[in-house]
Amino acid sequence: MDSILVTGNGPLNGHIPIAGAKNACLTLMPATLLSDEPLTLTNAPRLSDIKTMTQLLESLGTEVQAMADGQVLALSSHELTNLRADYDIVRKMRASNLVLGPLLARAGEAVVSLPGGCAIGARPMDLHIGALEALGADIDLRDGYLHAKVSGGRLTGAVHEMRFASVGATENFVMAATLAKGTSVLKNAAREPEIVDLIHCLQKMGAKIDGAGTSTITIEGVDRLGGATHPVVVDRIELGTYMLAPAIAGGEVELLGGRIDLIESFVEKLDAAGVDVRETANGIATKRRADHIKAVDVTTEVFPGFPTDLQAQMMAMLCTADGISNLEETIFENRFMHAPELMRMGAQIDVQGGTAKVTGVERMKGAPVMATDLRASVSLILAGLAAEGETRVNRVYHLDRGYELLVEKLSGVGAKVERVPGV
Ligand code: UD1
Repeated sequence: MDSILVTGNGPLNGHIPIAGAKNACLTLMPATLLSDEPLTLTNAPRLSDIKTMTQLLESLGTEVQAMADGQVLALSSHELTNLRADYDIVRKMRASNLVLGPLLARAGEAVVSLPGGCAIGARPMDLHIGALEALGADIDLRDGYLHAKVSGGRLTGAVHEMRFASVGATENFVMAATLAKGTSVLKNAAREPEIVDLIHCLQKMGAKIDGAGTSTITIEGVDRLGGATHPVVVDRIELGTYMLAPAIAGGEVELLGGRIDLIESFVEKLDAAGVDVRETANGIATKRRADHIKAVDVTTEVFPGFPTDLQAQMMAMLCTADGISNLEETIFENRFMHAPELMRMGAQIDVQGGTAKVTGVERMKGAPVMATDLRASVSLILAGLAAEGETRVNRVYHLDRGYELLVEKLSGVGAKVERVPGV
């Protein structure tokens, strides 16, 4: 298996282009299942998760053509030939569950394996099931698969309130409700920018949806949806990750396409830690104000709060801050697997349940470390950028799921990073 070697080597300068959002693309792609007309996505990121979703959609009968080196995806679900999302594909990626709502809406039935994905907690499916049952689906679990059916073949609009603002369950509900009979209202809906992006695309396809970006989304069902062309919104998690690179290693890096409005709570924490963030003509640029970062406390929350997907990377920066930082993880119950790996590099971290107390050290030291999930892996790379000596990050297939051209992007601003083929 390949690994990535990072050698801490001082300040980074230059610019990094930010790709389209993985998490937006993974919900925009299944939207093709709602229509027999073509859906074209531009600004798609080139990631293994996108290939997995391509494979899943193809198994259902969708034709997928990747163009412009994978940045344009032409999807056509003229005819669905299979309504079963198989375990072999779904286990690779939890976002596969996003075919459930669209399949039910278009075909009146679906069989979807329970998901796998990052090992960062229980991540059950009860909110998805509750949301789709509210629209009239009958769902039971047999042999590890969710068997979903709508009697009469068409979902019915309904008012539904979720106990927690789940991103995926909101996406499944909204997609399913676009073709339901009558009006649906989702209360306590998630407000993440990727959901707003999905809604904009669905609107282009002819869906009638109000309340994007708010906690109450209203969907007036229509009889059919048409085709559309839609650019994937910029990846705020890739953006935040690379904003941390100069904060950790010094220098100033411009993130092309970056938008502060997508990550305001993150920018506030960076400011408190002593990192300047400014808008430029082409995006945003970050640099730290002084040699040392200041400790800050961080609690992950649903959007617009601090994103859980940036918690590991933030921790990497705080490992060398002046003072003690407390990081509280409220979204996933098992999301500090990077902590023991960062400790192998000399970090002082004490994890108690959902809180990690990070006592800043002067400098980290390179070490062989193990990537445990997508965001954990990149936090180890970030830590390696300023560590003394060499850090070898093993199991990098996690990184390929979510960071396109990582080595090229970091090398482009002067980092010493290389990918070493496995033996
Ligand atoms: C999405 C993102 C992921 C991000 C997460 C939270 C995609 C492809 N993935 O994941 O990167 O970390 O949002 O911002 O967009 N839960 C339940 N029951 C359910 C569903 C979820 O209890 O039916 C719980 C989960 O166990 C977790 C929490 O809700 O503790 C958040 O999950 P959710 O918002 O659904 O995340 P995902 O959509 O899976």
